Amino acid sequence: MRPPFQLGSLPLAGKIILTAFLALIGFGYLAALGNLYQRHQLADGRSGLSFDDLRAVFHGLNVAASVADDVAAARPRAPQSRMLEQIEPGGDMRKHLLKGGDASVRALTAWLEAGAIDDEFDRESLMNEGDPAPRAVIERQCLNCHNADGGENEDAPFGPDAFEASYDLVRVYAAPGTAHTPDSAASGRPASASGRRTIGPQALAHLTLVTHIHMLSIPVFTLIVGGFFLLTGPARGWRGVVAAVPMTALVFDFASWWLARQIEPMIFVMVSAGALYGVAMAVQLLTVTAAIWSRRVAPAFDDSPRPTA
Ligand code: HEC
Repeated sequence: MRPPFQLGSLPLAGKIILTAFLALIGFGYLAALGNLYQRHQLADGRSGLSFDDLRAVFHGLNVAASVADDVAAARPRAPQSRMLEQIEPGGDMRKHLLKGGDASVRALTAWLEAGAIDDEFDRESLMNEGDPAPRAVIERQCLNCHNADGGENEDAPFGPDAFEASYDLVRVYAAPGTAHTPDSAASGRPASASGRRTIGPQALAHLTLVTHIHMLSIPVFTLIVGGFFLLTGPARGWRGVVAAVPMTALVFDFASWWLARQIEPMIFVMVSAGALYGVAMAVQLLTVTAAIWSRRVAPAFDDSPRPTA
């Protein structure tokens, strides 16, 4: 039996669409690797991506306290931020925030607790309909003193002048992990005694976010590319292995993100699954691209002799 459909017999437009799609997936995957490196390489307090970075993010890593402090300062990962610390009940700056009323308290607190994201700095109604944007709260309640142009606390500016806040300046204090008192309780792992401390793992809420984003998208294009790969020839031998590896690797990869919280060696499953996925995906992308542009007829699906054309 022939494959139901020959990639090589697509009209030119089809070949172009499909080739562009495969190229986007391929380069998108490389970009994802770059992003992974950028985001995680400093997790253990040292540059360069290593197993310890993954341990820190997915399991928790026990390090000397000084390293943990550097990490907290360098990486906005621990939940608490200095600004949140200051505006929470008992914080020195709460009285200034309270002047803005409940809506201001709610808006700024919600923004800080959700990680003080750039995208949400100008967003209104973060918690309740009609709440002001975090930027507006800071401009009204804080900027008066926290501005670089002669404010009472110009050493901790949230904007260049008394009129406009700047996200980059605010972020220095608003980024999670900038708090003076390390908030280890929130990560569920108390700091250990004797000058050692545990970095990570990432908050469950963040893992859930990352999981749903990835789990609902990666399998989709994995399936599409795998489907085209199956059209290039029978799924036997090496083709069978290459066809099945990516989706299977995803199952192990996603599972390991969660299991590694308890079972540290799952880090190695994560790395192996990722590597296998990458290699098999690359082979699939190249094989499909070759099939699209080659004039060769794909091999038959079974062993019956191929009819001569
Ligand atoms: C009346 C002036 C004034 C206002 C208004 C004000 N602050 Fe402050 N803020 C200060 C001063 C002075 C300090 C430094 C002394 C201290 O910590 O009490 C400070 C310190 C801080 C710090 C710690 C900075 C550091 O270097 O670690 C943060 C964070 C902060 N304020 C946030 C805010 C926020 C958020 C608001 C608005 C809700 C606000 N402040 C409103 C005067 C002000």
